[in-house]
Amino acid sequence: MSAKIIAVANHKGGCGKTTTVVHLASELAAMSHRVLVIDLDPQANASLHIGIQHPSEISVTTAELLLGDITLLTEALQEETQIENVSLIYGSLSLGKAEDQLKEEAPRPSEELTIKLELLKDLYDFILIDCPPSLKLLTSNALASATHVIIPIESGSQYGLYGVTDLLNHLEKIKRINPQLKLLGALLLRHDERQNVCKLIRDEAIQQVGKILDTTIPQSTKVNQAAILQQPLYKLDKNSKVRKAFEKLALEVIAKT
Ligand SMILES: Nc1ncnc2c1ncn2[C@@H]1O[C@H](COP(=O)(O)OP(=O)(O)OP(=O)(O)O)[C@@H](O)[C@H]1O
Ligand SMILES: [Mg+2]
Repeated sequence: MSAKIIAVANHKGGCGKTTTVVHLASELAAMSHRVLVIDLDPQANASLHIGIQHPSEISVTTAELLLGDITLLTEALQEETQIENVSLIYGSLSLGKAEDQLKEEAPRPSEELTIKLELLKDLYDFILIDCPPSLKLLTSNALASATHVIIPIESGSQYGLYGVTDLLNHLEKIKRINPQLKLLGALLLRHDERQNVCKLIRDEAIQQVGKILDTTIPQSTKVNQAAILQQPLYKLDKNSKVRKAFEKLALEVIAKT
């Protein structure tokens, strides 16, 4: 079966995109699914977490892949990472420049990733794309190639939904080139149902986004620890609340895609 391609997108910075990609990927892989992470963010945070090498040492990252020929794919694809059964196409700082160049040179600037992913669809069950905090071409490439999109929302912040209408409008535009794109829903991170601000954000998210995932992710210092140690949450503490939440998210994603 062809891979489910899930873009994790929100132009609001720091809302939990990378965290969602890394831990959803590791939980899906722990359930024996074949998983590929594609890092489309110049900050390369997902690559720093799950990569074995530093992104600056990688000669073919998503930047070169987007601009170059499809034959670069074999070099771009790294099957060995810090997380078992998760492959990675690294991101790097050069993505910023690549985005400008794509805009000037590519005949269909939003569809370069779609072309490059065609050959990978049969090799993986899930392809997760980490987007940068912007709505420009890199995010458009992710959304144009995806079958599904998750919108992470920082639940503990009263500004968590700021800008979400722009994102939804952008999704509608992308649907003209990718009509199959489905919204899986908003995902509330740092969510605590006992806090009023979280309850408010939940209600607002249902209103504004239209759909939220049943699973919510609690706040936990283990998230930062996992990133520093370059580990999946199940290796840190497999029974922790936050790990269980990502495990539940993986099951929900499997059921809904
Ligand atoms: N549930 C959580 N509990 C505690 N800390 C969290 C949680 N989710 C994310 N964080 C922390 O919040 C910060 C931002 O998260 P993350 O990097 O996933 O956001 P992002 O949307 O990818 O950011 P950017 O827009 O810069 O790419 C990180 O330091 C991360 O470790
Ligand atoms: Mg990120």
